[in-house]
Amino acid sequence: MFKKIKDILKKKNKSKIVCLTAYSTNIAKITDKYCDITLVGDSLANVLYGMKDTHRVDLQTIIQHSISVRKGIKKSLMVVDMPKGSYKTPSQAKKNAKKIYYKTNCDAVKIESNNKNFKIIKEIIKAKIPVMGHIGYTPQFKKKFKVEGKNSKEMKKLIAEAISIEKAGAFSIVLECVTPNAAKIISKVLKIPTIGIGSSSFCDGQILVTDDILGLSGFYPRFVKKYVDLNSIIEKAIKKYSKEVKSTIFPKGRNFLYGK
Ligand code: KIV
Repeated sequence: MFKKIKDILKKKNKSKIVCLTAYSTNIAKITDKYCDITLVGDSLANVLYGMKDTHRVDLQTIIQHSISVRKGIKKSLMVVDMPKGSYKTPSQAKKNAKKIYYKTNCDAVKIESNNKNFKIIKEIIKAKIPVMGHIGYTPQFKKKFKVEGKNSKEMKKLIAEAISIEKAGAFSIVLECVTPNAAKIISKVLKIPTIGIGSSSFCDGQILVTDDILGLSGFYPRFVKKYVDLNSIIEKAIKKYSKEVKSTIFPKGRNFLYGK
């Protein structure tokens, strides 16, 4: 098995797995230093392209951003989201996973579960491409946001889904907005690591959207911790620049390109 994947697996029950998203070289250079996994998430649809959901972002856009991210990655495991509609059948999934894997030189792909597409995971793995699963709130398949695993029926369904994904061969699984109890049981039952987003500290690792923790996206649900308010920092800088251009403070004294 691939070394970087093995290193992630070894962390289970030993140390927490740190993950964040990146959509460009500059951000990837920083996430790479501090994260075990850098994900090129299809969340870029909302975050970068202002789309209302992740449904219409296409394969080429994901590949383009992944090529950019790859340039910033030295050590972390780079995972790329397969966009909605790119893995409807096993053969289409294999073809598109190969496209992503070979064009971007990523380490793995992530696919969202619809509680039926286990064969698709198997088919991608058969092509020797590692797969990360994703259950709970899966924005590609679920219309309305809802925390999952609130009652025993939902809990059983989630656990069975997670086990099927592990059996299909995934090396890890994202648990998005599942109850702490469900996260605790799933993390205990599975041998592969669970990566939580809004799913409690019972998960083996955590992931958030980088633009959210930086205060750039304007999307701050309760599970997001905003570590800095970059929006207001950027606004201040741009406001100052605008003022200085108008008052000719800038570019005074910066004509060194042309001599005195
Ligand atoms: O698209 C994304 O960024 C994701 C993470 C939030 C898990 O799927």
